[in-house]
Amino acid sequence: MNIYIVYSSPAGSTATIARRIADHFRRDGESVELYDLAAVKFLDEREKAEPLLRRIGEAGQKGLLFAGSPVYVGHAVPPVLNFLNMLPGGSGCGFVPFTSWGSVSSGIALAEMGGIAAGKGFRVRGACSLSAPHSQMWREADPLGGRAIPLEAFAGFDGWLAAVSGPLDGQAEGGDRAGLAALSALDHPDAQVREDFKKINLAGAASEMTPRKVETEGERACTLCRSCAAVCPVGAIDFEPYPVFNERCIFCFNCVRYCPSTSITADLSAKAEWLRKASDRRGEAREPRLISL
Ligand SMILES: Cc1cc2nc3c(=O)[nH]c(=O)nc-3n(C[C@H](O)[C@H](O)[C@H](O)COP(=O)(O)O)c2cc1C
Ligand code: SF4
Ligand code: SF4
Repeated sequence: MNIYIVYSSPAGSTATIARRIADHFRRDGESVELYDLAAVKFLDEREKAEPLLRRIGEAGQKGLLFAGSPVYVGHAVPPVLNFLNMLPGGSGCGFVPFTSWGSVSSGIALAEMGGIAAGKGFRVRGACSLSAPHSQMWREADPLGGRAIPLEAFAGFDGWLAAVSGPLDGQAEGGDRAGLAALSALDHPDAQVREDFKKINLAGAASEMTPRKVETEGERACTLCRSCAAVCPVGAIDFEPYPVFNERCIFCFNCVRYCPSTSITADLSAKAEWLRKASDRRGEAREPRLISL
């Protein structure tokens, strides 16, 4: 079997899941391709993903594609959604979406990823969603989701991976009636969550994101070292000559977090309080969700 694991992971939790999936299949001697969309600063340029898209298309029923995303404003992040929208049609390849979410709400990301792939004739075999540290709360002593995905979250993971990669029982054919019914297993169980996140996404919430400012004078003055551009997953930083954030920005805050001179300032404390209240209000269970179809 050819295993493809494609993911975006600005803060590393989704990458942890991706590596865990890769380890499982490498142990079994399968061919595994791990593809980090940030490594090519992927947002929506087809030419960057073209060779991989071609290999996935050619793998057909021998292929199994895992696609991983953090949950941002209830959805998968733009690089992942854009990649999925470029998948070739009719390959018959298997598909398994996975997400990490910051303990506020896992939103509708799994269902939207599964829906895109099923619409292209991929066979959705299952899905997984794990609660993780909230990536806007790294400065907090006690961030939502803790400091890392706990090891216990991966109990049952190997069994789940065996199930989603095992022989088909004919149920999960993408596009047919049974396949679409099975896909509803990826829906968030709470109707209110499904309704809420149909109405809002990252682009709609952009104006509510904590503003950033680049210091160009004083102790914290930017040294033009370009580390921020190196850690930006989507190539959203231009230099004029100081950093400016262009419209590709997905608000991951990596530039703020990793600037060695702390030159990019953002006051995230009010946001952290808002997130804690939102997490309490939602009250979503943080146990791993492992689905096989
Ligand atoms: C802009 C932004 C929006 C987010 N929206 C949500 C959300 O809607 N629900 C949630 O539980 N966590 C949310 N998070 C937290 C991330 O989903 C969570 O930390 C995830 O594990 C990050 O994955 P990564 O470490 O692979 O980047 C958000 C984080 C950012 C930066
Ligand atoms: S990482 Fe910080 S110091 Fe370096 S270019 Fe970016 S803002 Fe300036
Ligand atoms: S500009 Fe900063 S916040 Fe925006 S995507 Fe790049 S690293 Fe993330």
